[in-house]
Amino acid sequence: MDEAENGHGDGLEPPLRTRVSERLGIRYPIVQGGMMWVGTAEMASAVSNAGGLGILTALTQPTPEALAAEIERCRSMTAQPFGVNLTFLPSITPPPYERYLEVILHSGVPVLETAGNNPKDVVPAARAAGLTTIHKCVTVRHALAAERLGVDIVSIDGFECAGHPGEDDIGGLVLIPIAARRLRAPIIASGGIGDGRGLAAALVLGAEGVNLGTRFCATVEAPIHPAIKQALVDASERDTRLVFRTLHNTARVLKNAISDEVVALESRGAKFEELRPLVAGARGRAALASGDVNGGVITAGQVVGLIDDVPSCAVLIQRMVRECRARLAAAEAMSTAPLAPPAAR
Ligand SMILES: Cc1cc2nc3c(=O)[nH]c(=O)nc-3n(C[C@H](O)[C@H](O)[C@H](O)COP(=O)(O)O)c2cc1C
Repeated sequence: MDEAENGHGDGLEPPLRTRVSERLGIRYPIVQGGMMWVGTAEMASAVSNAGGLGILTALTQPTPEALAAEIERCRSMTAQPFGVNLTFLPSITPPPYERYLEVILHSGVPVLETAGNNPKDVVPAARAAGLTTIHKCVTVRHALAAERLGVDIVSIDGFECAGHPGEDDIGGLVLIPIAARRLRAPIIASGGIGDGRGLAAALVLGAEGVNLGTRFCATVEAPIHPAIKQALVDASERDTRLVFRTLHNTARVLKNAISDEVVALESRGAKFEELRPLVAGARGRAALASGDVNGGVITAGQVVGLIDDVPSCAVLIQRMVRECRARLAAAEAMSTAPLAPPAAR
């Protein structure tokens, strides 16, 4: 594409402007959600450099001090805005959340993404420190509660998503328009989005941005072994499993020997103690690093069915925006032009 085509002279797709892109100061309203073990400076800076918002995952760093160093490293890799995710999940030995938060608030990072529990203890402090807050949740009632807290942007995960889809099992096609009708704050659609069709659909449903997890794992810059990226490419939309359903802490992960065993044990009434050795975070992390697809639990969403290559983040985002515009134009043409005779379609 040349200057005449995009009007910016940089060969890139023109910006896609929504309240989300404006508020976050990014070219395209495409966010890389927090990802345990994956949300490092390599991943976040690549997404931010490609015109989206990259997000570091606080708890991937072993200590608050290590997070401070990772933020500095990311800053040395991109001049664009990036955020930090802080996820509150049930844990036997909770991490020192307050100290992680202190680091984030004093780091100069412009965006905090929270997920998991109600962020009531975090959002007022983050806003007072001048950060833009995104809260990611999986139900409309939690989205409304976040809006009441003053969260700037609400990210909503449909049941398709990787990680924790909650227990209501509502897909994005229903969840996103309900949220768009009921919230005043801008919303980001998350879960199941991997291409320009998904981006276009999200915008049409009333979202003003998208959040991607799994799709960004299958990119050149994701800090994951190539064999795992290939497993994501090879997987179909049927190749995820829901583990921890019996614990009411459901997580969507890639189908492999471990997740099959966890589901089988749960169906026999196994308690968490029995599952624990299988699902240890350290095993999942080791699997991502070594490429042993059956080595641990690997978080992934149904969107694996849409993934068939491992592009750079820049190529992926340009392709998504281009395809989004083409899909929106095609839909517009369908709604205004008379139906072409069958022979011509
Ligand atoms: C490998 C992986 C790890 C994840 N870890 C976290 C996490 O620590 N905190 C969080 O809020 N979401 C986490 N997620 C969820 C993503 O941020 C995002 O909400 C989700 O992947 C969206 O669904 P999608 O995978 O269909 O795009 C993770 C997702 C993946 C794929």
